[in-house]
Amino acid sequence: MTGGVYFAAVPRLKWSLWLLPALACRGPFPQSTLDPRSDFSAAIDGLFTNIFWWALFVFVVVESLLLFAIIRYRARPGAPEPKPLHGHTALEIGWTLAPALILVFIAVPTIRTIFATAGHAPPSALRVEVIGHQWWWEFRYPSLGITTANELHLPESTPVQLDLSSADIIHSFWVPRLGGKRDLTPGHVTRIAFRSDSAGEYLGQCAEFCGVSHANMRLRVFIQNDSTFQAWVTRQRAGAPPERSGSIEERGRQEFVGHACFACHTIAGVSRGTLGPDLTHVGSRTTIGSGLFPNTTDWLKRWVADAPALKPGALMPPQAGPGVDIDAIVAYLQSLK
Ligand code: CUA
Repeated sequence: MTGGVYFAAVPRLKWSLWLLPALACRGPFPQSTLDPRSDFSAAIDGLFTNIFWWALFVFVVVESLLLFAIIRYRARPGAPEPKPLHGHTALEIGWTLAPALILVFIAVPTIRTIFATAGHAPPSALRVEVIGHQWWWEFRYPSLGITTANELHLPESTPVQLDLSSADIIHSFWVPRLGGKRDLTPGHVTRIAFRSDSAGEYLGQCAEFCGVSHANMRLRVFIQNDSTFQAWVTRQRAGAPPERSGSIEERGRQEFVGHACFACHTIAGVSRGTLGPDLTHVGSRTTIGSGLFPNTTDWLKRWVADAPALKPGALMPPQAGPGVDIDAIVAYLQSLK
């Protein structure tokens, strides 16, 4: 019992281990389904709580009966053989009906929640097309004419409907505090509808194994109040600002078009590529690499220079090489606010 000796020698550690389960219930947990912030996730959380109490009730009843039987009918020296019970109609009806009733109490709210979270939003809902790619997320707002990636901006207190599909293989949309999980399947549209009244930033990630960088397929959802959201929309709809003649940004754009970048990425008015994320406003995002790294000059340089080194399997080949001005490309990308 090495562990026992060790703990006996370190009483403080032993006590702190007892505290671990209690500490595990304290935040912050950015991806906890138990801290819901939308009608969708509140419905799931409510169902979970409901079933938890039923499960606890069944546990207590069964264990109490078991303990009672063990103690009351245990073998005692000289006690007669216990008399087996056979054909007790009331008891048999009882233990058939009680579980059936409990299952009804679980099934009714479960089915209600399944329909409530099936993805039907009112016609006034804001529609966003969510397209899964290995390994990033594309977001298109058809009614607003916006295409962006990995960071989903949504207005507070407004029903939204996400139409989910995939460009390659099956992914799964999961933002635990807002909604999901729901699969994104090639050639088929699935839906999630929700409404959040809590402005904030919510983390999510792909929840269906989709290859080497599955764990790196993350996303962020920004629930914003009306004016912040409208300001974001206005910025996203505006074109890229023209670069000053002779500036590093202008050189960066020339590098972007002169090298392979333009073939995979769209920048409105500059290039049209669909393999990689739309970069028209990449400078306004908080992260790069599908939520993996902060959108800073240093990380962006490392990313453009050698993305697969930072994210295994990333399809963008390393761009660093003779005659490639990474600094200029990065300055240009950062100017795309
Ligand atoms: Cu996409 Cu896992």
